[in-house]
Amino acid sequence: MITMYINDQTVVAEAETTVLKAARDNNIHIPTLCHHPALKPSGSCRVCAVAVEKASGDRTIMLSCILPVKQGLRLWTEGEEVRQARIKALMRLIAMAPMSERIRHLAEKEGIDLPPAPDGCIRCRLCIRVCKEIIGKQALRMDKEDGRQMVIADPDRCIGCGTCANICPTQAITVSEDGGMRSVSIRGSAFGRHPLKRCQGCGKYYATEKQIQLMEERTAPHPQVKEHHNYCAHCAKLFSNKLMVMEKQPPRLQTHK
Ligand code: SF4
Ligand code: FES
Repeated sequence: MITMYINDQTVVAEAETTVLKAARDNNIHIPTLCHHPALKPSGSCRVCAVAVEKASGDRTIMLSCILPVKQGLRLWTEGEEVRQARIKALMRLIAMAPMSERIRHLAEKEGIDLPPAPDGCIRCRLCIRVCKEIIGKQALRMDKEDGRQMVIADPDRCIGCGTCANICPTQAITVSEDGGMRSVSIRGSAFGRHPLKRCQGCGKYYATEKQIQLMEERTAPHPQVKEHHNYCAHCAKLFSNKLMVMEKQPPRLQTHK
């Protein structure tokens, strides 16, 4: 066993261990991120920084997860230089993973005042505009939530066409289909769940009931295209080609007995 000093407190530790382990065995907190008890330490995240006294008496920043204990070692887990080292480490990590709740939580504990986490939306309003100007449903709007402008969905207006997701340049809005249901989600949370209808030609799911209803309303004055709404794009095309062929056929001659 060896004796060392953490935060001016005498600590007894096993000889073959790290400063991090010795501190934790003595209930002294040091934050970590890349440390895992089942793996060899790598010193990657730099969050476990501590201030160590050099032979000259000056202090230097070292990483406690890879620093072996030593007889008479003197170090501090708190203080301005430790705080600055951790802030630097956390800001570097936040830049790489700005949405990580774990890193954000560690940063908050170090007193770092972070802006709200990005939500993947660049506020281009393409989704809002296409839903209003082309689909005519106004199922999306920009509104203030948690102190910032956010795209907000109105589930009652959504018809599940997925046009907003197709036009979104960042995948903040997504569409998924599962077992005859289509879900439209924003920021990972579904705002529309719509049953899908099967194509009357091939039997595959192809559009939501509300989507087909809208097409029927829009094309009501044009009965010649109305039939196509019961088919997926592929079968509708076959159907149109067949009609064109039939139109080109010369009328059959009547034969009189
Ligand atoms: S959700 Fe997508 S399309 Fe809509 S404003 Fe954000 S980035 Fe633009
Ligand atoms: S815990 Fe990541 S460098 Fe020490």
